[in-house]
Amino acid sequence: MTSKILVLPGDGIGPEVTAQARRVLEAAGERAGLAFDFSEELIGGSSIDARGTPLADSAIEAARGSSAVLLGAVGGPRWDALPVDTRPEKGLLRIRKELGLFANLRPAAVFPALADASSLRPEVVAGIDLLVVRELTGGIYFGEPRGIAATAAGRREARNTMVYDEDEIARIATVAFDSARRRRKLVTSVHKANVLEVSQLWNEVVEEVAKDYDDVTLEHQLVDSMAMLLLKEPGRYDVVVTGNLFGDILSDEAAMITGSLGMLPSASLGEGGIGLYEPVHGSAPDIAGQDAANPLAAILSAAMLLEHSLDAPDAAQAIRSAVEAALDSGARTADLAGEGETPMGCVAMGDLVLAKLEA
Ligand code: IPM
Ligand code: MG
Repeated sequence: MTSKILVLPGDGIGPEVTAQARRVLEAAGERAGLAFDFSEELIGGSSIDARGTPLADSAIEAARGSSAVLLGAVGGPRWDALPVDTRPEKGLLRIRKELGLFANLRPAAVFPALADASSLRPEVVAGIDLLVVRELTGGIYFGEPRGIAATAAGRREARNTMVYDEDEIARIATVAFDSARRRRKLVTSVHKANVLEVSQLWNEVVEEVAKDYDDVTLEHQLVDSMAMLLLKEPGRYDVVVTGNLFGDILSDEAAMITGSLGMLPSASLGEGGIGLYEPVHGSAPDIAGQDAANPLAAILSAAMLLEHSLDAPDAAQAIRSAVEAALDSGARTADLAGEGETPMGCVAMGDLVLAKLEA
């Protein structure tokens, strides 16, 4: 069987990390009897420069004709002065929205070899194995009205709107409960219901969905407390479900406590069947083009692609084991290297994961 994969390398370190992820995906797939037909399109700043838009319609069409999309990262200082509506990030938001990718899964677990790389004490970090389920196509990211305008008095005024309807809440809650059922059966729903009506509805609907999941425990947590609790007792959490903005913030935090933002993969899924897979980290323009990036989050995203889009959980697990073996052997990219450890480059880390895969 040949699967069509669209690669959107993007900006900054995006092309470097997706190149390694693609090599590893191909090798792991081949061992599982899968073949790939790769194509590539521009997204983000590179697309703005070449085509005048952060995501061309042809890229959306190519995505629609694929089984899955592997994405790098978008953005960089070159495009920072652009208005929100034409920035590189708009390309990412557009592809998520157009493909209906409402469920963003961001697993944060600790590789034992990296427990020392976290800024938290190793004993606090040891048991972390949580899954952030972030709503991805609604909330304040997409709500209308939005924009910057002049008031009657001629002053500038800006607005964004946080809005969720009950169906959007129910479908993301369902993804969270289904995920928890396959894990440790705890869902923590994160909100700001002491201030926001949106969160009051969020909690009501999550409670309604919970009625169908007797075997799963539901708890609620305010987002500010949750930011604190993730630092205090991260090992306690299993599935953390929340809206778009809170999920954006908490998933960076969850990533960092495991050791490095360079380790966290993600899957964005929807009703259409196409999945989009991308590292949680950004384009890191400061180290772009230096072969200094950590490709592991992108490589682990390729593992999620095998699992969720190609129904190849064994191949996915083979990649995870190869990454673990590489880390166990002491290999560290610059973001992971401690004092006295010599960092290796992005390509060398890709080489090593490939070697571990073949071992
Ligand atoms: C992420 C990123 C994006 C987001 C940006 C690049 C638009 O931070 O995927 O977490 O805010 O969703
Ligand atoms: Mg983010």
